[in-house]
Amino acid sequence: MTIETDEDLQKLLRIGRICGETLRYMLSRVEPGMSTAQLDALGAAFLRQHNARSAPILAYRFPGHTCISINDEAAHGIPGNRVIQPGDLVNVDVSAELEGYWADTAATLIVPPARPEAERLCRFTRQALDEAIKVVRAGRPLNLIGKTVERIARRGGYSIIRELPGHGVGRHIHEKPSVFNFYRRGDRTLMHEGLVITIEPFFSMGSGHIFTDQDGWTLRTVDRSLSAQYEHTVIVTSDGPILVTEVA
Ligand code: CO
Ligand code: CO
Repeated sequence: MTIETDEDLQKLLRIGRICGETLRYMLSRVEPGMSTAQLDALGAAFLRQHNARSAPILAYRFPGHTCISINDEAAHGIPGNRVIQPGDLVNVDVSAELEGYWADTAATLIVPPARPEAERLCRFTRQALDEAIKVVRAGRPLNLIGKTVERIARRGGYSIIRELPGHGVGRHIHEKPSVFNFYRRGDRTLMHEGLVITIEPFFSMGSGHIFTDQDGWTLRTVDRSLSAQYEHTVIVTSDGPILVTEVA
């Protein structure tokens, strides 16, 4: 969506904050021995307390309130009886709706003890998000985001999961434009004032190729390598980005 009124801004910021707080709360509660269904239930209760509705359920009838993806699961992991283990890479993706406004945020956490290579993967992926957010400004090519993400991936020696782009968001969970995590030569799309997008780099330690699990939802890396993703919803302005889902 494009922010046009103060009401748009306030309502998007409200659901953004709820998504950010839900994510922070869920990450703070992750511990070994817990099932992903238990973790999802905490997120569901938190969203409900704030009158927000799960976007994956609302938009896609996804069998969970949030997506919880572990290790070689890149995205769209279904909360269930899988038990979180020490050393696991746990990705939690929270998207939700309130009063017709939608926001989307995610992060990847390592359950201690963290292996150095997993820590490095997370550090670079987080850095890609941070650096890509910095290039957001009205009038600039949207392509700059992919270019920036690609540069950090190359520096770290990681592959990008190219099939999973960021996206427009705000009036629905997935809107135009796609925000690719790699440079697309010839793409002349510009970021315009008020445009709301997600930025969500996905890095993998392997080839970066994924497939859909037999459950019909979970996206796994083909070579079973670890992947990480971090995501924020941002508003494009001529003064730079407004972070919608970041909580202090
Ligand atoms: Co997203
Ligand atoms: Co997301």
